[in-house]
Amino acid sequence: MRLAVLKERRPGEARVAATPETVKKLSALGLTIAVEAGAGAGSSIPDADYAAAGAEIAPDAASALAGAGIVFKVQAPLGTGEGELDELALIPRGALLIGTLGAYGNEERTRTYASLGIDACSMELLPRITRAQSMDVLSSQANLAGYRAVLEGANAYGRGFPMMMTAAGTVPPAGVFVLGAGVAGLQAIATARRLGAKVSATDVRPAAKEEIKSLGAAFIGVESEETAAAQTSGGYAKEMSEDFKRRQAELLAETVKKQDLIICTALTMGRAAPKLLTAEHVASMKPGSVIVDIAADAGGNCALTVPGEKTVTANGVTILGYRNWPGRIPVASSALYARNLMTFLTAFWDKDAKRPNLKPEDEIIQGVALTRGGAVVHPAFAPKPAAAA
Ligand code: NAI
Repeated sequence: MRLAVLKERRPGEARVAATPETVKKLSALGLTIAVEAGAGAGSSIPDADYAAAGAEIAPDAASALAGAGIVFKVQAPLGTGEGELDELALIPRGALLIGTLGAYGNEERTRTYASLGIDACSMELLPRITRAQSMDVLSSQANLAGYRAVLEGANAYGRGFPMMMTAAGTVPPAGVFVLGAGVAGLQAIATARRLGAKVSATDVRPAAKEEIKSLGAAFIGVESEETAAAQTSGGYAKEMSEDFKRRQAELLAETVKKQDLIICTALTMGRAAPKLLTAEHVASMKPGSVIVDIAADAGGNCALTVPGEKTVTANGVTILGYRNWPGRIPVASSALYARNLMTFLTAFWDKDAKRPNLKPEDEIIQGVALTRGGAVVHPAFAPKPAAAA
């Protein structure tokens, strides 16, 4: 069976879905791997390294995809009118497509996969269960995003992070506040601490408080009956009530004005990011302070974030609202993402038949499979049965 690895064509995407390491391991399953020329360039992987690992270098997407039974992508392939090339039209009917396809918010794409007979798996929907940890693209990418956010925030900030006692006087430590202590937020806390900042953080899930404290940061947050039940069975945060939001905003008002850097990572799965920082909060911050909003892809946690842009407010606060934070550290994020996909395929590989066997009854497959055999099969996206009259 042939597995195609395409060059990513969506704007600003530097990652790639396979590395020479994973090409070798995938070849050992009995797959022929075709890598589109230049696919690894954004992640500093030359074509020659893929070839040395046993891949065929295809001159373009069409030749990589010709006869492919499996397609690996980072982001969703381009469809009709979406860019330089209609990648979807080149994917053979019946092929298995695996990537972070952005199923929520792009429901029409899922219908297109079904109509083209592509069996699509959207890896951001993977259940957060122990057995799936090594395939967990959200975790591998969010961890690096949290790290990168602190480095870029530190770079945009005109003072250092640690307290420095010098002959010319003492420089106080930077105050860093992290909104959302999931995978990205916890890495942001750890990174800011390693750089010497004084770190505090907030979250709504009850488990997050201990995790924040175990990393040596202070927990700042509203605790109530609502937060005690703020976690869904899947481990995600729920959308909070208006009353909670008001109390949280009041608490944040006291906190944010003292901060030098704020790292925003709060998300609620399948919804727009919660708006936690208001224009008034930002107006209360000191000139020179920095907000890094890695929730920008989901609209951002700060009301003033312009997704995709770096902006500076009238009171001199820099807001880094760039999209795709894992893509800003592409060598590491590609390496981990490629391993996640390789592990997923290997776990569902039929060694005798030398082809994937995505068991429909498996919890992991039920989580990620969007389409199968021309139909939308994911419960969140399948057509709803007509209501009884
Ligand atoms: P996420 O990316 O969906 O959200 C980031 C953080 O924002 C979360 O901690 C969330 O509670 C917080 N948040 C959401 N709304 C908020 C609000 N209004 N105010 C403040 N904070 C808010 O979360 P992520 O990082 O994907 O983690 C989700 C869950 O999955 C966590 O419970 C985590 O421990 C769990 N997990 C489990 C794994 C496993 O067992 N395989 C692997 C990785 C994560």
